[in-house]
Amino acid sequence: MADYLNAYKDQIVLVTGGAGAIGSNLSRALAEAKAKKVIILDDLSASYDWNIPNLPNVLFVKGDITSDVDLKRVFNEKPTYIFHLAAFFANQNSVDYPEKDLLVSQLGTIKLLEYAVIAGDIQRFVYAGSGCAIYGAQAPLPLKEEFVSMHLSTPYQISKMAGELYCNFYYHHYDLPIVKTRFFNSYGPGEVPGQYRNVIPNFVYWAMKGQPLPITGSGKLTRDFTYVDDITDALLLARYYAKAIGEEMNIASRVYKRSF
Ligand SMILES: NC(=O)c1ccc[n+]([C@@H]2O[C@H](COP(=O)([O-])OP(=O)(O)OC[C@H]3O[C@@H](n4cnc5c(N)ncnc54)[C@H](O)[C@@H]3O)[C@@H](O)[C@H]2O)c1
Repeated sequence: MADYLNAYKDQIVLVTGGAGAIGSNLSRALAEAKAKKVIILDDLSASYDWNIPNLPNVLFVKGDITSDVDLKRVFNEKPTYIFHLAAFFANQNSVDYPEKDLLVSQLGTIKLLEYAVIAGDIQRFVYAGSGCAIYGAQAPLPLKEEFVSMHLSTPYQISKMAGELYCNFYYHHYDLPIVKTRFFNSYGPGEVPGQYRNVIPNFVYWAMKGQPLPITGSGKLTRDFTYVDDITDALLLARYYAKAIGEEMNIASRVYKRSF
């Protein structure tokens, strides 16, 4: 087993949003890396229980990251690694429900950070950020971590960026060992099609139905598609590299040819 996977052996890990498209793959990888316990906190608002890895070292807690009762339940398990992936996904959803977006993606993130500080002994808090939430549509190419856009166009982007900023606060003020990651359009097993989901599962769905693929927007938009296993690998490396603490990093395949 690779060294960076071995590092999770016998550890207790909390994955918020662990039933989701990326979280389910991450939780499985952690469980297969022989983590002592992988605690999944997910309210199944955007996922299904069949997506949860059915492995003996996976503990599923159906709950909400904004609920103190549910947070106390999972922190009672004494996790030392936290991967925070739960969010109100994604752009159009947040345009339709901006208050819900703020509650889940901002308040939920603050609460989780707060519980992590109170718990103590957290070795890594890995935040799932988003490329589109930092760079917006106007960023100079290639997209570099140090660039920040002030021209974000959806509540989702604003909340995901705020999540990074709150991570900075808890890192600087409380020394919480935060790693900030920025994903670019994940695809792969574990993602379901749907009104608010990414293009690839929806295209697969329509193709399997023998229907034409619906093109939205100008038809010229591009995305940086990243296979979900590459994202989970990058997340797992967060423990391996101490110099990742306090840093932000793109997890992408080709960040230099992207437009919204
Ligand atoms: N998929 C992408 O292309 C992409 C790109 C950039 C960033 N991200 C970020 O990565 C993370 C994971 O994305 P994903 O594609 O797996 O999304 P997803 O919607 O499949 O997973 C998110 C999970 O969070 C859960 N959830 C939502 N609200 C919750 C709440 N209040 N309490 C507990 N659980 C809750 C959902 O039920 C879902 O299982 C998100 O934070 C997202 O913003 C994803």
